[in-house]
Amino acid sequence: ETAPAPVNLRDFEPAARARLDPAHYDYFAGGAQDEITVAANEAAFRRHTLVPRILRGQGAPRLEVTVLGESASMPILLAPTAFHRLAHPDAERATARAAAEAGVIMIAAMLSTVTIEQIAACGAKLWFQLYIQPDLDFTASLVRRAEDAGCRALVVTADSPALGRNERGDRNRFHDLPPGIHCANMEEEGKVRQVVLSPDISWRHVDWLKETTSLPIVLKGVLHPEDARLAVEHGVDGLIVSNHGGRQLDTVPASLDRLPLVAEAVGGTVPLLLDGGVRRGTDVVKALALGAAAAAIGRPALWGLAVAGQAGVERVLELLRNELANALTLCGAASPADVTDGLLGGVAWK
Ligand code: FNR
Repeated sequence: ETAPAPVNLRDFEPAARARLDPAHYDYFAGGAQDEITVAANEAAFRRHTLVPRILRGQGAPRLEVTVLGESASMPILLAPTAFHRLAHPDAERATARAAAEAGVIMIAAMLSTVTIEQIAACGAKLWFQLYIQPDLDFTASLVRRAEDAGCRALVVTADSPALGRNERGDRNRFHDLPPGIHCANMEEEGKVRQVVLSPDISWRHVDWLKETTSLPIVLKGVLHPEDARLAVEHGVDGLIVSNHGGRQLDTVPASLDRLPLVAEAVGGTVPLLLDGGVRRGTDVVKALALGAAAAAIGRPALWGLAVAGQAGVERVLELLRNELANALTLCGAASPADVTDGLLGGVAWK
């Protein structure tokens, strides 16, 4: 007997789980400690209500957006996630081909299992996610490689001065990648460098990075309005309101619940993206209504990848695109730009 085909993003998770090594499933699904923040991210979307406008005669909505000068077929990006080879042998190549097919921006993780050059060869619009390494010469060499590969922005992950504590990994004794899988961008002269998540990284490094590259810099992991203001002061070009999918500090609030505060702090000076718990077209509408220019998905793309490689990621994006188009139509909205906080009915239930 075959399982029914997934009809929404959530359906992909059990389908992926059935195919994955349990330790790898736990690595993808899990979060920090009690996973309070993992649950909070999705719960925040459930609490918000939408109040549609009627009889607006807008026709079918247009979904295209431009973020930091990059056009995309819809306001949905692929968030950077590590180690796609654990989900599928085609690894990040499959994900990138799906992104290219769908016309969405893929944020390629520094901790990919094929190189950024190999990902770039798959034709997607790419941004490169960076964990600034204390060895600045090495960090600069990664930045050069990302530039040369055609990446159009650098996404600096700022919420990781240390690794979050994933206890599923402890239980599974999953602390190393299996033989044959490694962080391909970290390979130098046949040796793979250790990744360093350093508590020494500071605004000084952001300033250094601004001098080192002319690519736009997007700071990922912003939750505090004061940090959002500092980011703008330091010349950052965009922010991702994110709690790393609940994988870093547990008991952090849902990223959606921080979005209005960050939006108020930056006052439209730089574009905001949102990730964490986005699973529905209506979730994307809510993120747009609360001030995001676009939203990103992490785990759902991994589930699609695990289920059917490139075709699975394509299907995840297609389902979300159809849901978003349907939600915008039902809201009476002509486009993502037409979505305002006027569509929000407040937080109505727990
Ligand atoms: C991540 N995320 C992440 N972020 C980042 O900046 N660099 C990374 O290497 C990773 N790796 C990673 C691995 C896995 C398995 C997951 C699930 C997540 C965080 C990611 O970019 C994003 O913030 C969240 O995944 C968004 O939440 P959802 O969509 O997974 O709920």
